[in-house]
Amino acid sequence: MAGYVRSAPHGSPFKVGDRVAACTDIGAWAEVASAPASSTVRLSDRLNFTEGASLLLNYHTAYFAMVLRGRLRRGESMLVHGAAGGVGTAALQIAAGLGIETIAVVSTPEKAGVARQAGASQVVLADDDWKGAAQGRGGVHAVLDTVGGDRVLDSMRSLREGGRLIVVGFASGEIPEVRLNRVLLRNLDVIGVEWTYALTRPAVNQRITEGVDLLVEKGVIKPLVHRALPLKKAAEAATLLEERRALGKVVLEINAPHRP
Ligand SMILES: NC(=O)c1ccc[n+]([C@@H]2O[C@H](COP(=O)([O-])OP(=O)(O)OC[C@H]3O[C@@H](n4cnc5c(N)ncnc54)[C@H](OP(=O)(O)O)[C@@H]3O)[C@@H](O)[C@H]2O)c1
Repeated sequence: MAGYVRSAPHGSPFKVGDRVAACTDIGAWAEVASAPASSTVRLSDRLNFTEGASLLLNYHTAYFAMVLRGRLRRGESMLVHGAAGGVGTAALQIAAGLGIETIAVVSTPEKAGVARQAGASQVVLADDDWKGAAQGRGGVHAVLDTVGGDRVLDSMRSLREGGRLIVVGFASGEIPEVRLNRVLLRNLDVIGVEWTYALTRPAVNQRITEGVDLLVEKGVIKPLVHRALPLKKAAEAATLLEERRALGKVVLEINAPHRP
């Protein structure tokens, strides 16, 4: 969610009237919501509230996954599954900002356009030979997987020796199983990512926030919101995600927030 702070406890880093983005366990489909300071960030003037609502869960997760957990560095390469989705487009923009080459895997030509818009170096349809595209460049350093399911084996085969499989989510609905000889034989790392880990570790949270903020200020991060729907169409918004029709981020617009 994103909006203005209406009240903040004494000693909080935020004050009434601050523009913020936040995440809350109990949901943000409301005109007024509460969130802990640990999952609240100041919102740059470069982003409007609709973009701000797209920030935390997607960009903080992607930054945590790529930089802190996945140790990706400038000049390396990464294949991204679900690349036109919320976390996928965030990962592509962050990669472009950090000098990481990307192969985006998406299911439709329309989604290929979204991945290109997010800065993908190369886009391959999920039904085409994305493993071959990765192997053609000697294998990628990392695979960022938000989809899971039956792609996992070819994801591992897409990695170069010593590569990293970064497990972020299972949008396909299937949690894959792998035989660990795949990991042993090619010295692969399988890296789990759970972003809320950062919320109880202030130093980790600060590194993510500073890293994301820097990329926002450089103009690298600009959330791609293809649908912003009013609250009364919340069911339609959820259906877009469920039916795999969402492009970039789907946002619910409640009432235009006014500064208290
Ligand atoms: N670990 C964490 O801390 C963390 C944080 C945030 C999100 N997540 C998880 O990461 C995953 C992705 O989140 P998101 O916000 O990027 O979701 P999203 O916007 O819905 O994108 C998910 C993508 O997955 C692909 N997909 C493949 N099979 C699908 C299916 N059966 N149904 C729906 N999508 C399917 C779709 O791309 P194509 O159609 O192009 O294949 C879609 O664009 C979710 O599982 C979410 O729970 C984890």
